[in-house]
Amino acid sequence: SGIERLGDMIAEARTIVPFTGAGISTECGIPDFRSPGGIWTRHRPIPFDEFVASQEARDESWRRRFAMEEVFAAARPGRGHRALASLYRAGKVPAVITQNIDNLHQASGFAPEHVVELHGNTTYARCIGCGQAYPLDWVRRRFDDDGTAPNCTACDKPVKTATISFGQMMPDNEMQRATALSQACDLFIAIGSSLVVWPAAGFPMMAKRAGARLVIINREPTEQDDIADLVIHHDIGETLGPFVGN
Ligand code: OAD
Ligand code: ZN
Repeated sequence: SGIERLGDMIAEARTIVPFTGAGISTECGIPDFRSPGGIWTRHRPIPFDEFVASQEARDESWRRRFAMEEVFAAARPGRGHRALASLYRAGKVPAVITQNIDNLHQASGFAPEHVVELHGNTTYARCIGCGQAYPLDWVRRRFDDDGTAPNCTACDKPVKTATISFGQMMPDNEMQRATALSQACDLFIAIGSSLVVWPAAGFPMMAKRAGARLVIINREPTEQDDIADLVIHHDIGETLGPFVGN
């Protein structure tokens, strides 16, 4: 079966780089983007230039974030996160590349420096001007006091979740680390991503071109199934559950 082949490939590999998308966190109660009921089936994305230009867009963006707070605060690592953390502790996985912003790889035991967050992190905020970090409850208090999304106390530019929006520059350092990891592994496992958002979706192909075996685990077919060595169209928790160790 697919899971047995995956087990063989994991056993044979020396360096495994997992690449994760929203599908690994759905069993933790966090919706993905493109499945029925996903975020982009309910909301139109707010592009970065709109966030910068419009107070109304910033207010809407923060209202959406606050509406999700209970979900993010309650979420605990799932079987997928825990399986990857087991392989990390076993020394097989040097780091995880993720498009997710939910902090669950860190919560599962990855050291922060071993989580490459291509799309940032939604558990804190940053000034888009000077980069000053802010806790979310600071934003919440200011929003409640003023009825509007706050600006930076240092430079007066807007404060945004520390995530990457459409139209926003990708983080340089993370792109470089993800490139190095993709080119240095012998097994690359894409987990729970539709693989439609670029440049993130370029890493599976980059790994494959550099000589790694490529595995894709996703309930639905993805854009890149045809270049994979193994495709498992199955639930992530069930597929990776057997690899949860200590
Ligand atoms: P998507 O919502 O595009 O894809 C998630 C995939 O996971 C879907 O194909 C689902 O079928 C699959 N899936 C969900 N739950 C699953 C489960 N339990 N078992 C197996 N498969 C499951 O999410 P991403 O590919 O992560 O970026 O989205 C990529 C980027 O688009 C996000 O990082 C975000 C979004 O716009 C930005 O906003 C910049
Ligand atoms: Zn600032």
